[in-house]
Amino acid sequence: MTDLTRRATLKLAAGGAALLAIGAACQTDSTAPEVDEVRVEPGEIPPASGAPFHSEEGRFYLFDDGAETLALYARCTHRSCLIGWEADADEFRCPCHGSRFDRVGDVVGGPAERPLERMTVERLEGGALLVHTDERTSGDG
Ligand code: FES
Repeated sequence: MTDLTRRATLKLAAGGAALLAIGAACQTDSTAPEVDEVRVEPGEIPPASGAPFHSEEGRFYLFDDGAETLALYARCTHRSCLIGWEADADEFRCPCHGSRFDRVGDVVGGPAERPLERMTVERLEGGALLVHTDERTSGDG
């Protein structure tokens, strides 16, 4: 191998390694919340029987079930696709493999086996809510 060929090969290898590093740095989890906290104003909090409040950037659905206010992480517990609210069926559905969850995040149809995770909700003075998207607990209780 000539010096010129060796240098060209080394440059190509270095360039490829740099591209791999950039690619790894750019990979993000699109189902992860984009923000650590979301403030929900009193007028946005749905009644117990209403459609849930949805935060796209916080990746959660929130509603008041009458006994407590729940913020459910919108990530399916099967393989992490984002779920959606189906008003006609009054449940959450996952578009990937069809798992279904009720209003409190319990599984009503698999393949998911675990309920949706819950985010910590803090009640602020004046009735607004602060959802801490980075504080989550299992919906198992
Ligand atoms: S990822 Fe939701 S059912 Fe598979």
